[in-house]
Amino acid sequence: MQVFDIDTPALVIDLDRVHANISSMAARATTGGVRLRPHTKTHKMPDIARLQIDAGASGITCAKLSEAEVMVRAGFDDILIAFPIYGASKLARLQALRETARIQVSLDSLEVARGLGALGVASGEDVEVMVEVDTGLHRMGLEPGEPTIELVTQLVEIKGITIVGFLTHAGHAYGVHDRSARADLVRRELDDLVSTQHRLGELGIEVREISVGSSPTVDEEMRQRGVTEVRPGTYVFNDTTMIRHGVATQDTCAAHVVATVVSRPSHDRFVVDAGTKCLTSDGMGQPGWVQFAGREELSMEFMNEEHGVGRLDVSRGDSLAIGDKVLLIPSHVCPVINLFDHAIATRGERVVGQLEVTGRGKVR
Ligand SMILES: Cc1ncc(COP(=O)(O)O)c(C=O)c1O
Repeated sequence: MQVFDIDTPALVIDLDRVHANISSMAARATTGGVRLRPHTKTHKMPDIARLQIDAGASGITCAKLSEAEVMVRAGFDDILIAFPIYGASKLARLQALRETARIQVSLDSLEVARGLGALGVASGEDVEVMVEVDTGLHRMGLEPGEPTIELVTQLVEIKGITIVGFLTHAGHAYGVHDRSARADLVRRELDDLVSTQHRLGELGIEVREISVGSSPTVDEEMRQRGVTEVRPGTYVFNDTTMIRHGVATQDTCAAHVVATVVSRPSHDRFVVDAGTKCLTSDGMGQPGWVQFAGREELSMEFMNEEHGVGRLDVSRGDSLAIGDKVLLIPSHVCPVINLFDHAIATRGERVVGQLEVTGRGKVR
């Protein structure tokens, strides 16, 4: 069976490209002398996480406890949950995971730390925590310098937790397309983290690890002093956002939605059977937000839930008929994967199997 024989719409993952992306990132991390802990929020698939570990990743990152539960059930034993775990029922679930796996969690408050500390004391084994620092995204974390130093000096007084390191996510780099501005942003990120780490060291508090990473910034980050671990996620599949940032090309994009042309209402307009229900509305309307792989004459104008409404540049070609199949590259691949129970695995044009998206829909 070939990719265009698949009934549409469907999610298709090219395993040759996945392998290439995984081994390239693993090699760059080795050269950079940092550990790689890929964020599995992009693929949500134990089978892909296994490829990442087999290629040298030291562990994996999850966003949610329920995603970590999927990964522990699949046999993974070194997981960072980059999210604060709060409340009795979640703490009980965390403890169940800790029976079989090493689980670190991130936090940015004393309230969360106290719950984890109580768990650590009751279980007789400290909970390993990463302290999240805000290096510019303004999502979670206190600012580097004094606010983080004050938090850490209070955290070390809480019994039952061990501070492993700092964690930050340079998601604000998604708004920066200029390479040198992005390099400046990364330099500032690491200067802030390393100087905060040194000042704590002067107070006798060791913060061993610095964990950073987003796909657009990871290469710059691996070159900075102080980084011990990187957590890129999107690189495994890539998407048009990564193309716009110059860290991917259409040829390194490994996840597509295959769709069928179902309408040709005018000479330059067409409709495919994949809309926001398959591709989300992330990036809608930005130039090149959803791209047609290998078909530069086609562009996506807008989408409703079931309809993808495209424009054909007739000066560059006019061969597009009802029934034709196209491969769509998502604007933001992570939430697209979350919409599918399984993906069709291919190698090039050839269908070779199916991948289960076991970690999809795990919100809790
Ligand atoms: C905490 C954290 N770490 C790592 C990542 C991976 O970033 P990217 O998808 O840009 O590779 C994310 C993405 O949202 C994140 O939230």
